[in-house]
Amino acid sequence: MLTYTKIQSMLEECGQSHLLNFFNELSEAEQQQLLNQISSVNFHEANELFGKAMKSLDGDLQEIDSLMEPVPESQFEAEDTCDPIKLENYRNKGLEEISKGNIGVLLMAGGQGTRLGVTYPKGMYSVGLPSGKTLFQIQAERIRRLQTLAERRTGIAGCIPWYIMTSGRTHEETRHFLEKNDYFGLDKDNVVLFEQGLLPCFNYDGKIILDQMNVISMAPDGNGGIYKALHQNGILEDMNRRGVKYVHAHSVDNILVKVADPVFVGYCLEKGADCGAKVVKKASPTEAVGVVCKVAGHYQVVEYSEVSEETAKKTNDKGELLFNAGNICNHFFTVDFLAEVARKHDRFMKVHVAKKKIPYVDEHGVRYSPKSPNGIKIEKFVFDVFQFTDNFVTWEVPRYTEFSALKNPDEVARDCPSTARRDILNLHKVLVERAGGVVDGEIEISPLLSYSGEDLESKVKGKVFDSYMTVLIQSDEEIVKHKSNGVINGHN
Ligand code: UTP
Repeated sequence: MLTYTKIQSMLEECGQSHLLNFFNELSEAEQQQLLNQISSVNFHEANELFGKAMKSLDGDLQEIDSLMEPVPESQFEAEDTCDPIKLENYRNKGLEEISKGNIGVLLMAGGQGTRLGVTYPKGMYSVGLPSGKTLFQIQAERIRRLQTLAERRTGIAGCIPWYIMTSGRTHEETRHFLEKNDYFGLDKDNVVLFEQGLLPCFNYDGKIILDQMNVISMAPDGNGGIYKALHQNGILEDMNRRGVKYVHAHSVDNILVKVADPVFVGYCLEKGADCGAKVVKKASPTEAVGVVCKVAGHYQVVEYSEVSEETAKKTNDKGELLFNAGNICNHFFTVDFLAEVARKHDRFMKVHVAKKKIPYVDEHGVRYSPKSPNGIKIEKFVFDVFQFTDNFVTWEVPRYTEFSALKNPDEVARDCPSTARRDILNLHKVLVERAGGVVDGEIEISPLLSYSGEDLESKVKGKVFDSYMTVLIQSDEEIVKHKSNGVINGHN
């Protein structure tokens, strides 16, 4: 750790000496805490990112609009229109790679979940399914099931390591939750948690905000912090050691996510891609999702706020939206590409700025929680590496089978616990009906029983499910029942 004098001169050099304003008023332990925190921040880098961030606020929207082109047909395929034999080949390819131990899952779970407004990691949220399962449990069980399916296909038992990126606030709780629940049946050696980096929060003049007299205000550096975090935490080496060559990376908050999806992985591998994005058709021209497209010849995600309504409404000769590839934070990467990004491209990644209400202490040391934005958080986004790829592909999937995000509380009535619950139960009803069952009430399928609708016939064919709630489970599986008929919302 640096000495006080060194820290003082370094802060002066970086225009951040106000961080020591209250130093003499702090207890010895608090002084130490502040010095430790200051020593952990790279102020030159933080100042540089602030400069980049402020510049990005002046970006010319007009320009992007006129440079946008849709993803070319050669780099695009849709599950809906894909030949069934080809689809089966993709799936088999994915399962074979799983058996070889070549596939890992990279879960982005370092967000603060501010919109949902819970105080614990979002993966621990339960949307009130009949089984009471949380997002983490659903995802862990999908991994277990896929390992079984891969073994069934090839006769070889492989495993899918689960890499979970957390951040300062979510790390300990996530670790404790998984441990307490025995990793939901996964081998604990195959579950690897690592922390992403944090960046200081700034006021609009480039001064770092003090959250308390002895604490700098810090926030996670965005899901694009994953590249640096993979490198700094030795995760890329861990992948190499285990022989993981490809990863499926996704957000924690999509209740329908097909974790380690063998079809998507198989498609990307068949195409020889170094990076792929799973997309869904936009629900409407003005839906608030980014679109995957090309800008000035380079792949990128263009945010809905960057596109004019006129461009968003443009259609192709089939009458579909021209810019229809809705980005859902669901990606394929080769481990080689991840390493290349960490080594070469990370520092050139775009930075994004969010104006936020950031609690602060004033010059008298009094703490305020502002009512309107008073500063900025700087973030990198995971998709901002598409421009560095050699062979980028997109795979379109139906929304009702693959995407329902949990972002907001129920009051918002969109991307909230009720819609997530509704969407997964609706999908499960469809799958049971497809397998010959009749569903009058609500039905939930355990991921341990079926990953995407397979193996259901023997359980459901010719049966009518008219009780209020049914949970279809694997024979040796235990469902922990919760009070009030198993329906609980929130944390369990
Ligand atoms: P969002 O950008 O939707 O953020 O994250 P969030 O934290 O879930 O929610 P808000 O914006 O605070 O309300 C999309 C995915 O990226 C992860 C999230 O955990 C989620 O899975 N993420 C986000 C990170 O891993 N790190 C970050 O710094 C930000």
